[in-house]
Amino acid sequence: MNFASDNVAGTSPALLQALADINDRPLPSYGGDPHTAEVEHLCRKIFEHDNLRTLLVATGTGANALALSALTPPWGAIYCHSDSHIAVDEANAVEAASGGSRLMTIDGAHAKIDPDKLRAAIYGKGIVHHPQPSTLSITQMNERGATYSLAELSTLTAIGREHGLRVHMDGARFSNAIAGLNCTPADMTWRLGVDVLVFGATKNGALAGEIVVCFDPDLADELEFRRKRAGQLFSKMRTLSAPLAAYLRDDLWLENARHANAMARQLAQGLADIEGAQLLRQPDGNQMFLTMHPALAERLRAAGAEFDDWPEVGPDVVRLVTAFNTREADVHAFLSLAANA
Ligand SMILES: Cc1ncc(COP(=O)(O)O)c(C=O)c1O
Repeated sequence: MNFASDNVAGTSPALLQALADINDRPLPSYGGDPHTAEVEHLCRKIFEHDNLRTLLVATGTGANALALSALTPPWGAIYCHSDSHIAVDEANAVEAASGGSRLMTIDGAHAKIDPDKLRAAIYGKGIVHHPQPSTLSITQMNERGATYSLAELSTLTAIGREHGLRVHMDGARFSNAIAGLNCTPADMTWRLGVDVLVFGATKNGALAGEIVVCFDPDLADELEFRRKRAGQLFSKMRTLSAPLAAYLRDDLWLENARHANAMARQLAQGLADIEGAQLLRQPDGNQMFLTMHPALAERLRAAGAEFDDWPEVGPDVVRLVTAFNTREADVHAFLSLAANA
């Protein structure tokens, strides 16, 4: 009964198998292997985009920092939510990689950027003293488990376009957002004006690795050099790419996310009947926040359940996260423990 995070979960067996399958043969290094090419080919199909380019990197922080550094000059302003991972959980990696850009944080309920606040925050174009409006960064699904609807995304990217902003999407849980909204990856990204997506894999059953999906091929050439300078160009790239090709092939990425979301829905439904637990909002994907009476939390933990407190959201708030391999039996066990507590 571990609901602490989706990165405490292991790896989808198909990905481990993909790695084992190529272990007995030498393959070209630095991304010259056929699996790296296959990842790009599969992304072109998944995103219905013939020219997109993909770069594999080790971590979400690295991917966000690289993507944003290519989109933003050192004197640029990046508009993002005040609870966004890039603002609060990346130790200024974006600012470092971009040579000094400024994160301009914007509020909004459930960690969604409020369009009016975004409009009000964009200021100073052409004023030499002021950070220059450059980039909009949106997390989809976001840090509070909320998914922007396509209409909400479209409103934000339209504001960005009015002001000449480029658009980055932190998709550490992009698959959960797609599974939740049941829309196409193209409709959620480049058709709305997203320039670079970080297509997360680690939290959805990958061994490691995130895919930087660049919808602007010119920018991809620059990203290649930035990745090398950041020390993120793997010489044995196949150790990332062979499992990731298996992850993308036959839509395993979507199947994994659908399962995680379904487990979250079951958990949320069951929690509605539990005294001492109150969801802050229904989960859009695989994570939910709730107030939980401390005595209930203590009993659940004493019985072996694992989950984290989330005091930055509020007193007695905890977070529950499901993963690609969460078992229905664990959801039921958690709920019956809670009911009996
Ligand atoms: C919204 C979001 N972006 C990015 C990341 C990636 O972080 P890491 O650098 O740990 O892979 C995470 C992980 O928690 C996240 O929740």
